[in-house]
Amino acid sequence: MNTQGQGSDPGRSVTHSATGSDPGRSITHSRRIGVLISGRGSNLQALIDAIAEGSLNAEIAIVISNKADAAGLDRARAAGIETLVLEHRSFASRDDYDAAIAAELRSRGVSLVCLAGFMRLVGPRLLDEYPQRILNIHPSLLPAFPGVDAQRQALDHGIKVTGATVHIVTGELDGGPIVVQAAVPVRDDDTVELLSARILIEEHHLYPEAVRIMLNGGWRLDGRRFFRALE
Ligand code: GRF
Repeated sequence: MNTQGQGSDPGRSVTHSATGSDPGRSITHSRRIGVLISGRGSNLQALIDAIAEGSLNAEIAIVISNKADAAGLDRARAAGIETLVLEHRSFASRDDYDAAIAAELRSRGVSLVCLAGFMRLVGPRLLDEYPQRILNIHPSLLPAFPGVDAQRQALDHGIKVTGATVHIVTGELDGGPIVVQAAVPVRDDDTVELLSARILIEEHHLYPEAVRIMLNGGWRLDGRRFFRALE
């Protein structure tokens, strides 16, 4: 671990040092990320594109899907990224499944895990392997509308502003410390599809930004509050 102090205690303020400065010392110093998907993979594509255009200094070491037919797998293959299908049904328990994912990520020197439309809850076996090192993107301004169908929940509730959130994954569904958010106004003539499409545009900016912030280090958590490095 490259944390100063015990990084897994949310009650403490811990500063995370920059990654990439000493690649030989520890895998947590790498800029290698692992992306977990279940479907379309447009956020994966946003990460691939940001890396390709040089706005994100990272390397996607592996893309893992729990579904063999996830379209995102083709996006990864097209970009020359290693892919792996791990179907949760082939494992006896969530623990076994999470342990298998953790082993695959570790063996490739992954230091940061990005859930990008991964429709599985992450259990303690994976969380303990990557404390404060798993990100998720969610299509609402958390803590509003966690869980599935966030855009529909927002429309049904009649709110006027929603958005997207990237947060650190904890044991609480969509409940971890918030890294970055973007707001999206709700229009009177919105449908779930129209609103989702506008939120998705923001997601594709937000996820590369969040990964950049995490990999650059210098960020710290104070309770639930995430503070990025001073620039
Ligand atoms: C996104 O809306 C994301 O916020 C949510 O699932 C969707 C995944 O889309 N967690 P994609 O697979 O990245 O296109």
